Amino acid sequence: MKVLIIGSGGREHALAWKLKQSKKVSRLFIAPGNPGTRLHGENRTIPAEDVEGLRAFALKEQIDLTVVGPELPLTLGIVDAFNSSGLRIFGPTRHAAELEGSKVFCKELMVKYKIPTAWYKKFDNYEKAVSYIETHDGPYVVKADGLAAGKGVLICRTKKEAADAVDLIIRKKAFGVAGKRIIIEEFLEGEEASYLAITDGRTVVPLAPAQDHKAIFDGDRGPNTGGMGAYSPAPLITPALEKEIMETIMVPTVRAMEAEGRPYKGVLYAGLMISGGKPKVLEFNCRFGDPETQPILMRLEDDLFDLLLAAAEERLEGVTLNWGRPAVCVVMSSKGYPGDYRKGDGINGLEEASRLKDVMVFHAGTAMKEGKVVTSGGRVLGVTALGDDIKGAIENAYRAVSLISWDGAYYRLDIGKKAVKG
Ligand SMILES: Nc1ncnc2c1ncn2[C@@H]1O[C@H](COP(=O)(O)OP(=O)(O)O)[C@@H](O)[C@H]1O
Ligand SMILES: [Mg+2]
Repeated sequence: MKVLIIGSGGREHALAWKLKQSKKVSRLFIAPGNPGTRLHGENRTIPAEDVEGLRAFALKEQIDLTVVGPELPLTLGIVDAFNSSGLRIFGPTRHAAELEGSKVFCKELMVKYKIPTAWYKKFDNYEKAVSYIETHDGPYVVKADGLAAGKGVLICRTKKEAADAVDLIIRKKAFGVAGKRIIIEEFLEGEEASYLAITDGRTVVPLAPAQDHKAIFDGDRGPNTGGMGAYSPAPLITPALEKEIMETIMVPTVRAMEAEGRPYKGVLYAGLMISGGKPKVLEFNCRFGDPETQPILMRLEDDLFDLLLAAAEERLEGVTLNWGRPAVCVVMSSKGYPGDYRKGDGINGLEEASRLKDVMVFHAGTAMKEGKVVTSGGRVLGVTALGDDIKGAIENAYRAVSLISWDGAYYRLDIGKKAVKG
């Protein structure tokens, strides 16, 4: 079978590595891919947002299954475009992907179907939003409605900060049309976790729970990033809590989307806040998480191609998954990220690190320059390792990290620490 993966980050490298292990995958393409995905398949320089270019390529190569990494092509309707050309693709349609593409839609759905989430108000007018802030106590969570590359959520302690956030999004249009509407949401205390499942529209097959580390600095300090590391399993998610998440969030959401005439197929990723032992939804994503996918796929013992094909063909009923030892992913980033950073620094030690047992060095923001791998993004590598327990996985990951270097490399020193007792 011929498979096409769309995207170019660490998540896509992990997908390529795992899919290539399937005996059924005879040829693997990645568009556009990165120097890491090239080790497992053939990169093609078609941008992830070029839906027409990707469809033409898939038709020409007679691709049997396309797997979409990032959210943008999904919200642009790549699944609809492929379906209308008779091409098999794994992911939600444009209407279904609105679950991630519009936070207002997501909130209205959750309220209508009684899926646990923070209370909220929506606004499209600066004055109304500010007068709401004036008459309510903080902290305030101000969110742009649409996709904002992970930057559209502002947590505000004071009325002034909240009013500035509204000004930034609605009046200054910092996120363009994504900020035409906003929501102001109740601030939830607690610990975050990621819960991902694969669904064919009816059956919901959970993946192993994971936790990521969004803040740039140790101790969860500093601005949020795309994610500085992740681990799986997440001890925070006990079997009882997992059952509750499936019964009150994951399955009801898939049913709700069906009832709304937007049947949901693909990855359903719930960003959760666990407070007082109870899960509430912060948001849904309609694709694999990055970096959670890296440790999750290293732990998966089953054939990923079989799983994704079954989901695309609505054959998930009865499928269960098997999970191996714990895994931890440490993201190595460019100094300055999530702000400005330099590109083009040569990376040393990749081969030595990759030779270590139980270690995978997933590429994210890398490029080739004169035959050498160089930095080309904020998040550069996702160094991922298995271990007999989380502690062992942390040790293995940092052993590999210590072998890799470039001028301006940065990483957190406390990835996974939260999951280690005592
Ligand atoms: N209601 C809330 N209470 C507390 N923190 C929140 C709340 N909503 C979002 N956050 C924080 O902001 C981050 C980003 O919010 P999220 O809704 O996941 O948007 P996105 O991932 O699209 O930026 C969350 O991971 C969480 O840390
Ligand atoms: Mg999020």
